[in-house]
Amino acid sequence: MSSMYDDLKYVLITKEQISERVKAIAGRLEDDYRDKNPLMVAILKGSVMFFSDLVKNMKIPLGIDFMAISSYGSGTRSSGEVRVNKDLDKKIEGRHVIIVEDIVDSGYTLMYLKRMLGSRNPASIKICTLLDKKSRRETPITPDYYCFDVADEFVVGYGLDYSEKYRNLPEIGVLKEEIYQ
Ligand code: PRP
Repeated sequence: MSSMYDDLKYVLITKEQISERVKAIAGRLEDDYRDKNPLMVAILKGSVMFFSDLVKNMKIPLGIDFMAISSYGSGTRSSGEVRVNKDLDKKIEGRHVIIVEDIVDSGYTLMYLKRMLGSRNPASIKICTLLDKKSRRETPITPDYYCFDVADEFVVGYGLDYSEKYRNLPEIGVLKEEIYQ
């Protein structure tokens, strides 16, 4: 029987390591957002596993909302422009917004999102990401909260995909080169 694990070079981050870091970040967010009723915004689809575990570990009142976006491709990459396929349901004016991502790579997506949501007059906007691939950054974007720093390797699992596959792996693994080359 074929297994997704056959396609991995190795497991980079275990379930236990993920759970420990998610709890730690949830605790920091609780401290920083107590009595602020923050709005947690999941950017689909990669962040869903992280988002769900994160908010379940935050024992303070908060709201959740979802955005689906897609990037325009390499031609317009420097503009960081993204297409919004599903916008937020509610207005964010006066709200403390936390954008939840699975990975920050070049940072173009978040630069655009921060600018777009910032123009709607929220009380504040912060970025919380599962993975930070610092070595690939091409923008001044710095996540306010992150769980793990990762090197420039092809990571999948716990929401992250290659060609829509591997999102359901409970761990984060490094994909074998032969799979994506
Ligand atoms: C990923 C990730 C960020 C973006 C980061 O999304 O969720 O949105 O890429 O890259 P950047 O920092 O270079 O802009 P992806 O387009 O893979 O969509 P997905 O979450 O649905 O998998």
